Amino acid sequence: MIIKPKIRSNVLTNAHPKGCELFVKQQIEETQSLPNIKGPKNVLIIGGSSGYGLASRIALAFSGGANTINVSYEAPPKGKRTGTAGWWNNIAFNQQAKALASTHKDFVGDAFSKAMKEDVIQYIKTELGTVDLVIYSLAAGARKDETTGDLVKSSIKTLGQPTTGRTIDIAKQRIETLTVEPGSQTDVDHTVFVMGGSDWSDWIDAMLKADVLAKQAKTISYTYVGGESTKTIYRDGTIGKAKEDLEQQAKSIHERLQSELEGEALISSSKAVVTKASVFIPQMPIYVSCLYDVMMKEKTHESILSHKHRLFNHMVYGDARLVDSEGRLRIDHEEMKSQTQSNTVQLMEDLSDDDFLKLHGTKIMLKDFYQMNGFDFDSIDYDQDVDMSYYETLTLN
Ligand code: NAI
Repeated sequence: MIIKPKIRSNVLTNAHPKGCELFVKQQIEETQSLPNIKGPKNVLIIGGSSGYGLASRIALAFSGGANTINVSYEAPPKGKRTGTAGWWNNIAFNQQAKALASTHKDFVGDAFSKAMKEDVIQYIKTELGTVDLVIYSLAAGARKDETTGDLVKSSIKTLGQPTTGRTIDIAKQRIETLTVEPGSQTDVDHTVFVMGGSDWSDWIDAMLKADVLAKQAKTISYTYVGGESTKTIYRDGTIGKAKEDLEQQAKSIHERLQSELEGEALISSSKAVVTKASVFIPQMPIYVSCLYDVMMKEKTHESILSHKHRLFNHMVYGDARLVDSEGRLRIDHEEMKSQTQSNTVQLMEDLSDDDFLKLHGTKIMLKDFYQMNGFDFDSIDYDQDVDMSYYETLTLN
């Protein structure tokens, strides 16, 4: 099969297995060049096949020696379908983790479901006993409500007023002006149901009940705060309401973990990076490109891997926590520096559409976009046939 990128609405709909292998390998090599993390022994990552969850898994397994369990929603190859990037990332992670002394397990299916929680808990009971860290890193467009059977969809909308801004159509390599309409209360409720903290809370409750959390266990989830230029679409929009809910739920999860296990629940506000979830958000690719450009000039730009490595090494398990008035870990402090924010906003305002496409930060953003699905690696010849019969023999643990 010849595999070249296919894009619909800024979403890559296919993936290159060999490229994904390289993508995971590069993150492994990067974490191995960083200091070891004195972290958890057994980690459950919910949403560990791509983006921030995958980077967390790689950092903790390859720099921290942790055993990992990953729950993700991914599809294997079938007929003309290549399989999702997350599927190949899971395969690549498992292949490369064979060299480690630790054990790694993947569950592919719906993390929101009761059945998945039961399966994972059963595995922990029989194989690990307990876990000492639960990372909740889901980004989902929909969640099945098991009480009604309805599929509830999240949305990215503003609240109150519409907003108009520029975004990039990646397939057409064109800047477009886009208006995002305000959402309704139902949009808010649905987005909170999908992307808020109720499922995270359900996981922790089920794990507490089954006694599979270790003494002093921690759990963490990732929020985004952002600045003025992303406020209307993100923090003040439907997704922002879901993040407020996630942060509120963290407080009540924390109380339960504290009283039962002397554990803790943490929220980290993470930096804006290119993932399949973030490029989908209107205006975000423009912001991320300009931010990358500014942070590269300021020498504060971090890869997705190094950002998560630093989170665990310095803040979750280290003694250099930066905590804001809401109790959130601010690993995004470089992005949020007032000078960085004002330079980014200035660049967003000053650049013509043509100049935007030529910007170094845009080129890096686009490279990240393609590479997360295994494309745009210089060492891969994308005109070469990919022997899918070989890749289909590779299985998950
Ligand atoms: P991503 O799209 O790269 O990863 C999402 C993960 O969730 C994947 O592993 C996917 O398989 C899994 N998933 C989705 N639905 C599932 C389901 N029903 N069952 C099981 N697994 C499912 O997303 P990304 O960007 O890494 O986001 C992770 C978290 O980090 C989100 O909460 C996001 O809001 C947050 N965050 C992301 C930022 C960014 O710039 N990308 C910035 C700050 C926070």
